[in-house]
Amino acid sequence: MQTFTVRHCGPITGTITVPGDKSMSHRSAMFASLAEGRSVITGFLESEDCLSTINAMRSLGVRIERTGVGTFVVEGCGGLFSEPAGDVDCGNSGTTMRLLSGILASLPFPTRLTGDSSLSKRPMGRIIKPLTEMGASFTAEGGDGKPPLVVRGGTLTPLSYEMPVASAQVKSAILLAGLSASGETSVVEPAACRDHTERLLQEFGVSLDLGAPDANGRRCIALTGPQRLKARDFAVPGDISSAAFWLVAASAKQGSDITMPGVGLNPTRTGVISVLQRMGAKITASSVEPKAAEQLGTVRVVGSALHGTVIEGAEIPNVIDELPVLAVAGALARGTTIIRDAKELRVKETDRIAAVAGNLRAMGATVTETEDGMLIEGGHPLRGARLQCFHDHRIAMAFAIAGLFAEGETVIEGVECVATSYPTFGATLEAVLSA
Ligand code: S3P
Repeated sequence: MQTFTVRHCGPITGTITVPGDKSMSHRSAMFASLAEGRSVITGFLESEDCLSTINAMRSLGVRIERTGVGTFVVEGCGGLFSEPAGDVDCGNSGTTMRLLSGILASLPFPTRLTGDSSLSKRPMGRIIKPLTEMGASFTAEGGDGKPPLVVRGGTLTPLSYEMPVASAQVKSAILLAGLSASGETSVVEPAACRDHTERLLQEFGVSLDLGAPDANGRRCIALTGPQRLKARDFAVPGDISSAAFWLVAASAKQGSDITMPGVGLNPTRTGVISVLQRMGAKITASSVEPKAAEQLGTVRVVGSALHGTVIEGAEIPNVIDELPVLAVAGALARGTTIIRDAKELRVKETDRIAAVAGNLRAMGATVTETEDGMLIEGGHPLRGARLQCFHDHRIAMAFAIAGLFAEGETVIEGVECVATSYPTFGATLEAVLSA
């Protein structure tokens, strides 16, 4: 078992380069595979989750060659996939399983999707329901909508669907299935969630109808099938969800001054910056190219004193993956931080509300857990502790950051899961600790 051993550190300075965005890496590999012709993807995140997607596409007959660090040449099959020889292992990756189901929904053969013990507990009913309505059929072998999933593709009919949860994975699965259905498929999201699928589908030549948000902030995304994708080269920006750990560390540590180049700044993902700025953080973004399909820029963070805030409502989908480390920021900030409307955290790689509240308490913080979030009485000193991360990469990394502020030593057990999204996190942490 691997561990992180962390202690209190001084100001954090210098340049930190974060690896490619996980969401965009998955999508670029899938969309390039669906397209007709050759696409070159650069800046691809070579983490376990994204490599699960590459392997899945390969097992469906797509030729993908790695030609350098983060560079993959994809010979798109134009949708003519072949039946996999065995199970397709999605590892720990919910994005692989859910988005791939949208593609498999129209293929003329059955595919069995498996995952690790964490993925096998995650709800798939949210994609099974709409994709079944479109004409695919599913067997959830784990019972109660849980993996392994056998997906049997069918002739799809278009669907108009109002999502009960703001999930980019559900939205994406439906839109991917909609590419093969004759007629208009539309998805209404209850609150804006990451729009990489919309942006990258357009980049790969798909025509989409993006409605303006209604009075309640609900947006409708529609496409008329059938449509084919065209090969495109795509450079994946740095992952703001990985940058988030250093954003919090440098924001809360006086004297810090870090620069992170090439960070993805898609407005549906930058909530972590807005929340930290509201807490008093000094964060600026520069060199933003507004016309790019996916914006990116250089982010500078200067240490300051943070104060508590409320994170709730429509902001939640924008910060969903950053809430564990934002809760750590709350513990470091003066006053109370409240997180609510975040029940989705209970069905991530682990129950992130229970994991964050338990670990913060073990470090001496005062935290009240609620059904859909937590209340953190911040500003009291944290003490080092021996912590579990429950096979959840973001819990491991969030508490490594907490350890940089705690008195004494913090040991986080089972951190090999960090390889699912940020394989070089440990090396950067070492560099910060030894500076
Ligand atoms: C993702 C969407 C989010 C997020 C996950 C990646 C994506 O999940 O938590 O890490 O790439 O579409 P949900 O769709 O379940 O909200």
